Amino acid sequence: MQFQWYPGHMTKAKRQMQEDIKLVDLVIELVDARIPVSSRNPDIDTLGKGKARLILLNKSDLADERKNEGWTEFFKKKGYYVVRMDARNKGSMKQVSAIIAEACKEKTERDLRRGIKNRPVRAMVVGIPNVGKSTFINTFAGKACAKTGNKPGVTKGKQWIRLNKNVELLDTPGILWPKFEDQSVGLRLALIGSIKDDILNIDELSLELIQILREEYPGVLKERYGMEEEGTPAEMLEKIALNRGCIKKGNEVDYAKAAALVLDEFRTGKLGKISLEKPEVEA
Ligand code: G4P
Repeated sequence: MQFQWYPGHMTKAKRQMQEDIKLVDLVIELVDARIPVSSRNPDIDTLGKGKARLILLNKSDLADERKNEGWTEFFKKKGYYVVRMDARNKGSMKQVSAIIAEACKEKTERDLRRGIKNRPVRAMVVGIPNVGKSTFINTFAGKACAKTGNKPGVTKGKQWIRLNKNVELLDTPGILWPKFEDQSVGLRLALIGSIKDDILNIDELSLELIQILREEYPGVLKERYGMEEEGTPAEMLEKIALNRGCIKKGNEVDYAKAAALVLDEFRTGKLGKISLEKPEVEA
């Protein structure tokens, strides 16, 4: 699912979220574990002020495990509860439930002191498009009750999903927008496939990816495409094309096909578990 954002969208989405956040005790924010900074919108820190905060490092199955650990520590130090997960996998949800209980312990104890017993924790899910919000809600709730393709700004009657006796989840996720102003953010979102490919130059994007991989994950391209990691990224793309038989009529190298292939293999994890952001740089 890819979005086109306009200032009008953003104002509406923000207003909606301000209203929704008032109703909850806990904000569950999903980020993409491969780019935890670029896949966040810092406005959520102001919007979620005073609420318990949980960050889910989602798609961690595609990200570098050591960096996942680093990011977990990074966010914990900033006062968030953190869980690494694969939103498609029911197995991750036990840990999420346990952390929700922990994150809301203070609220539960406060309720008890006031004589309120068994009032469930109310939570909402937020995040930029494509981080896995709908998938998470579906898996967590255990049935297909989250509608995919939620449009920002569409107001419906509030629906709560009762997850267990302790937790209720707002059924519609809050959609945040990425930080478009920052070019490196745009590049990283494009690399993971969250920005429409047809508005980007695929060849350029694949060259950026080759450059990053060569610097940060030496040996990965060699192993996958059986070539030496030498020369310019364009020369390397040519070697990938030859290795994979990306040849056009007239024996010409099909760069576009090779570019699409290397991007797809990165996005689907065929090049291995790779993260594009490191906590020590972003700290
Ligand atoms: P959203 O509501 O935040 O917009 O995201 P959504 O749940 O629609 O998920 C976006 C895509 O990411 C889906 O792929 C979904 O299966 C995939 N996804 C979600 N969580 C995870 C995860 O933890 N690991 C991996 N590997 N994938 C995950 P899709 O259905 O193929 O859609 P698309 O990417 O082709 O648009």
